[in-house]
Amino acid sequence: MYVIYLFRVERSFVMAKMAASVGEHGEDAFRTLFKFYKRRNPPPDFSDVIDCSKIGKHDKVYETELDPAAVSDGDARSAGLHPIRDWRVFRLQGYPGFMYISNPFLPGSQQHWVKQCLKTYPQKPNVCNLDMHMAPTETHDIWGKSADILRKAGSRIREPKTLLEKLRWVTLGYHYNWGTKTYSADHYTEFPSDLRSLSAHVATACQFPGFKAEAGILNYYRSDSSLGIHVDESELDHTQPLLSFSFGQSAIFLLGGTQREDPPIAMYVHSGDIMVMSGHSRLLYHAVPRVVPAPKGDPLHASLEEEGFRPGSEKGLVQDSIQGEPSIIQTVAEEDWAVCSSYIQTSRVNMTIRQVLGLDQTFPTTDKRTEAVMEYTGDYHYSQDGENVGLKRKRNDPSNPVKS
Ligand code: OGA
Ligand code: MN
Repeated sequence: MYVIYLFRVERSFVMAKMAASVGEHGEDAFRTLFKFYKRRNPPPDFSDVIDCSKIGKHDKVYETELDPAAVSDGDARSAGLHPIRDWRVFRLQGYPGFMYISNPFLPGSQQHWVKQCLKTYPQKPNVCNLDMHMAPTETHDIWGKSADILRKAGSRIREPKTLLEKLRWVTLGYHYNWGTKTYSADHYTEFPSDLRSLSAHVATACQFPGFKAEAGILNYYRSDSSLGIHVDESELDHTQPLLSFSFGQSAIFLLGGTQREDPPIAMYVHSGDIMVMSGHSRLLYHAVPRVVPAPKGDPLHASLEEEGFRPGSEKGLVQDSIQGEPSIIQTVAEEDWAVCSSYIQTSRVNMTIRQVLGLDQTFPTTDKRTEAVMEYTGDYHYSQDGENVGLKRKRNDPSNPVKS
């Protein structure tokens, strides 16, 4: 597909204000906007944040179509996805290779991924932030140690945080080494097959049929968490896309340029939305300065509460007869959803899936860098409350780049 991109030098009022302040305090425009959207008191003006699903309001956003035959309806359905022809896919002028897919999940299937992120994927042999400062006996059953407490939602104001609430990241497949900023052949565990299959279908729909899900970083955001400015460049093959899946509370995502100082644009990401960073946009700076809590009386995104498909209901996806492919989506048991729902009412979970190696590529031979004892600094994830989550935070330097 060839698209002619119109580059327009156009900045919103806030952007112009921010850009004008570059250099004034030794800060670049990205860092200034990061702090602007992270601010609590007073809360920032959100009027410049793009909402792709509300097309027509923003002249930088335009809707495109994917090849509806790239993935069969049966394959899409087996991964809990609507037929490709029904997907709403948006692109941004000036950001070739960036795609924003507005919740393509079938009713009831997001719940499967939320449950996997909370109950299954944090289990061994996968690696999580809690492993950095806790004994294996303490971290071996994060779900089991948290579930009962989370189920009795509401009356927990002064209780200590559960392990689930202290979870910040989980790595899958080739486990990302935060110290060396590398992946290596000798730290690999089997990539979850359901997530591999979801990723393959999404990548194929986006014209990357060869994509192999080899590494995953799952990010767990509480309402006060943020993710610093970074580029994902540790993967050895940058011709394959980065797939980013979001569930739970909405967030503000900042997408910048190839240079750290390029001013970013701000957009909302909602539950079920998928972002694809490929081509020119594969190596752009980005960050998540803020989780945007849902209104008080309406804590779950509408797509997580669709009538008739609630977990445990008779109409769950597993009961649906699926022609051809067996479904990889399991209906979430009601008692499990009670825990997930309580957690996700104040949290956001993001899964970013990566291909690490190109076709026939291998890791460079291990050198001293990967053997050195690395101290995990975790300058990637921030939280307001200073809770000990096994991360050494640089709270006064929120825009410290993650992996650059
Ligand atoms: C990442 C990342 C963004 C998000 O994990 O590399 O950029 O939306 N995540 O959480
Ligand atoms: Mn990233």
